[in-house]
Amino acid sequence: MLRHDVVDAALTDAALASVGQTSEMGTMDSHSDRLVSIDEASTSDLDDVLLIERAAFGSDTEAGLVEALLDDPSARPQLSLVARDGGRPVGHILFTSVTLTGTHYGSPMAILAPLAVVPDAQRLGIGGALIEKGVEMLRHRGVDLVFVLGHPDYYPRHGFEPAGRHGLEPPFPVRLDDAWMVRALRPEVLDSCCGRIKCADVLSKPEYWS
Ligand SMILES: CC(C)(COP(=O)(O)OP(=O)(O)OC[C@H]1O[C@@H](n2cnc3c(N)ncnc32)[C@H](O)[C@@H]1OP(=O)(O)O)[C@@H](O)C(=O)NCCC(=O)NCCS
Repeated sequence: MLRHDVVDAALTDAALASVGQTSEMGTMDSHSDRLVSIDEASTSDLDDVLLIERAAFGSDTEAGLVEALLDDPSARPQLSLVARDGGRPVGHILFTSVTLTGTHYGSPMAILAPLAVVPDAQRLGIGGALIEKGVEMLRHRGVDLVFVLGHPDYYPRHGFEPAGRHGLEPPFPVRLDDAWMVRALRPEVLDSCCGRIKCADVLSKPEYWS
């Protein structure tokens, strides 16, 4: 773990606010005595990260994707965060670098994929806290836009909106337009760029987008 990124946070509304979470998220009351930390993952955390991915998705697919993305130079810079509940690995989020084609817009951008919380720790706000902590760290690193291909009922809770409406196209056709979303980390940025997103080589396969 990189200690400077440690955010020890009791899972209470106040603690979630400290990582930018809104008080609407999650039902924390029965678990308010938990101490959850969110840290930037290092190579020594890889086994824990893969364990979380397998447990959350119930298959090896996303674990394999994460391992490949962490090893993909075209995905850099990446941001990989692990959530631990009293030391036990319970959540993981990965952001990798993307660029915009067909434009001169050159500010850093990222894509969120995947997000995983182990089944017995879901609906406690951990997924939301990982998103908000990651977005905050990316903002400090100068990232302007964060993309996600995900459930249109979940990610809008965290500031994501349909990207197609802003002329920001996914690398491959997606089945549901509203599932391709973007969150602007500076409000004015959505007015100043449009084009097609280019992802890391590992993510640039149609099967991840259909
Ligand atoms: C999606 C996931 C990361 C959410 O993590 P979490 O820690 O449970 O999320 P939070 O506690 O922050 O938020 C929970 C809320 O999101 C809702 N939610 C969770 N998954 C959802 C989905 N796929 N679609 C819509 N809403 C969803 C829950 O119903 C809950 O709503 P409520 O607060 O009204 O009860 C987690 O359920 C998970 O790992 N699922 C399996 C893997 C996956 O689908 N990952 C996302 C795709 S990359």
